[in-house]
Amino acid sequence: MRANLTSVGNESSTIELLAWHVASGADEAIADSPGNRFAEESDSRATRASPRRKPVAPGGQPSSVSAPGRRATAIARPTSFTSPAAHDAARIAAACATFEDLVAAIMAFDGCALKETATKTCVYDGNPAAPIMFMGEAPGAEEDRRGLPFVGRAGRLLDQMLTAIGLDRTSAYISNVLFWRPPGNRAPTPDEIATCLPFVERQVALIAPKVLVLVGGISAKAVFGISDGITRQRGTWRTYRPRGSEKSIPATAIFHPAFLLRKPLQKRESWRDLLEIKRRLVAGD
Ligand code: URA
Repeated sequence: MRANLTSVGNESSTIELLAWHVASGADEAIADSPGNRFAEESDSRATRASPRRKPVAPGGQPSSVSAPGRRATAIARPTSFTSPAAHDAARIAAACATFEDLVAAIMAFDGCALKETATKTCVYDGNPAAPIMFMGEAPGAEEDRRGLPFVGRAGRLLDQMLTAIGLDRTSAYISNVLFWRPPGNRAPTPDEIATCLPFVERQVALIAPKVLVLVGGISAKAVFGISDGITRQRGTWRTYRPRGSEKSIPATAIFHPAFLLRKPLQKRESWRDLLEIKRRLVAGD
């Protein structure tokens, strides 16, 4: 949660106000100076998505499962890249002939407003030549500090899940559907997802893994373009063909490790999912 402190007259009442914000769960200041949100909302000339804007859920159905600290939101994959930023991203991503070109293009891309509040760009960790790709949601605080996906608490559980099926970061590729941390870990907006998605799709096309695993509901919805929550999605398999690619890739979704940290009983289902992932990886079907 974010605090927005405006001047309240004297130092002791400002400190009391700050203490109240902290007690209410605000753990982060995201700007040097206070902003007038009421003025922002009435400014109809604003054309760019603010990183602080609340997510708008197409269809409005909340999904039941998401990472902790992220509001669960139903997100549909856009059928075409219509915003100027998403259009730019699609053009840039399509022009990347190699994985190295793509990483450089993502690092240089300034079209996603999340980059303004993020510390680092997190593109990937693991092995780009690996036969399996795990695609999570968005960097959290630790990932934002280090510029690597899944290196916080949820990442440590993901590592254990990989170990359970004989994998590690030398034999798996790990990325996210967003390359920048949403402030305060809020849910990404459909605009932010649509802007990053061309890079995500090109990444899948260039890596061409044997198996693609979407980690958590936000990534499954974004990549599969579905509105079903993760509880319905996990355990089912699809063939996913990234835009502009000839190759269809077996793909599935699993519970996010951050969710499993909160609901350890669900690890039983995840174990089944992991065994099937391993079976498909070995069998290659
Ligand atoms: N959660 C994610 O989905 N991705 C990360 O990189 C970290 C936490």
